[in-house]
Amino acid sequence: MAKSNLKVKEQVKKSNLKVVDDREIKTTAYSDINLKKWKDYSHVKTDTLWEFPTRLKEGGHSNEYHGNYIPQIAQQIYERYTKKDDVILDLFFGSGTSGIEAVNMGRRCIGVELKDDLAEKVAKKFTPKQLVTDVNIICGDSASEIAKDKVQARLEVMGKKHAQLLMLHPPYDDIIKFSDKKEDLSNCATTDEFYDLFEKVAKNGYDLLEKGRFACLIIGDSYKNSEVQPLGFMCMAKMMNLGFKLKGIIVKDIQGNERAKGKTANLWRYRALAGGFYIFKHEYVMVFQKV
Ligand SMILES: C[S@@+](CC[C@H](N)C(=O)[O-])C[C@H]1O[C@@H](n2cnc3c(N)ncnc32)[C@H](O)[C@@H]1O
Repeated sequence: MAKSNLKVKEQVKKSNLKVVDDREIKTTAYSDINLKKWKDYSHVKTDTLWEFPTRLKEGGHSNEYHGNYIPQIAQQIYERYTKKDDVILDLFFGSGTSGIEAVNMGRRCIGVELKDDLAEKVAKKFTPKQLVTDVNIICGDSASEIAKDKVQARLEVMGKKHAQLLMLHPPYDDIIKFSDKKEDLSNCATTDEFYDLFEKVAKNGYDLLEKGRFACLIIGDSYKNSEVQPLGFMCMAKMMNLGFKLKGIIVKDIQGNERAKGKTANLWRYRALAGGFYIFKHEYVMVFQKV
C-alpha cells in the first residue's frame, strides 16, 4: 500500500470515520453490481424462492395484456446480468415488459413479436426517439431465419454483434391462446409440437447471444389429459441440449399475476380435491449461461 494511503487510513482510524474509497470498484464482466459494496444490494435476490405480493404498475407498466410477466422479474434479472447500455433480446415480446424496463434501467432492447397489431400497439408505449436509439420492435416468427437476420441487422445498428441478455417468456403451451397463426407457440396441435417450436426459438436466441452472457426463461406448467405437463422442465432440458449451462431454477409465486379469486378459486379447490391434483401457485424463472 502506498505511504500516502497508509497515512489517510491512520487519520481516518483516529477520527473514527469509515474509509469509503470510490475508486474501489469490482464488477463481474456481465453486471454493474459493485462487489466491493455487495452489502448495499440487499434488494437483489440471490435465493431460489421469489415472492412478489403485488405487480409493479409504475414506470410505464400496465396490466392490460393477459399473459405478461411482472416487471420485478426484469428488474432482478437486468441488475444481476446486464450492464448499462447492454442490449436485451426478448423473442416473445408481448406487451413489451422487457423493453419498458430496459428503458427504465438504462439498457436497450430488441423485441420480436408475432402479432403485428400488438407490435404496433406496443410501439406507442415508447417515444419516437426511444424507438430509434433504445428499443427495436420486430414483427415476425422468432423461430424463423428471417427474424434471426432482422435481429442481427438491428444489433449492428445498435453497435453490437450479439445481445447481452436473452429473455424468453413463451406461451405456456395452449393455456392462453394468443392468435390463430400457425407459427404461434400457443396454437400447436400437440404439446410435442410446442416443445419443437420452443427449441427452434431458443436455438435462434442461443446463436444471437454473446458468449459468457445469460438467458432467462420464464415459464409455468400446465395440466392436460388428467396429468401435469412439466413445460418448465421440458423447456429447460431443450435449453441445456442447445449448450446453455443451467445457473438457477427459481420458483416464483404467482400471487401478483393470478386472476382467479373468490368463487372461481373455491371451484378449483373443489375440483382439486375431487380430481387428486394440485393447483398451480408458482411458475419458474430459470437462468442459463452461454459458456
Ligand atoms: C407469454 S406472452 C409474452 C408476454 C410478455 N413477456 C409481456 O410481458 O408482455 C408470449 C407472446 O409470444 C408471442 N408469440 C407466440 N409465438 C411466437 C413466435 N413464434 N414468434 C414470436 N412471438 C410469438 C405471443 O403472441 C405472445 O404475445
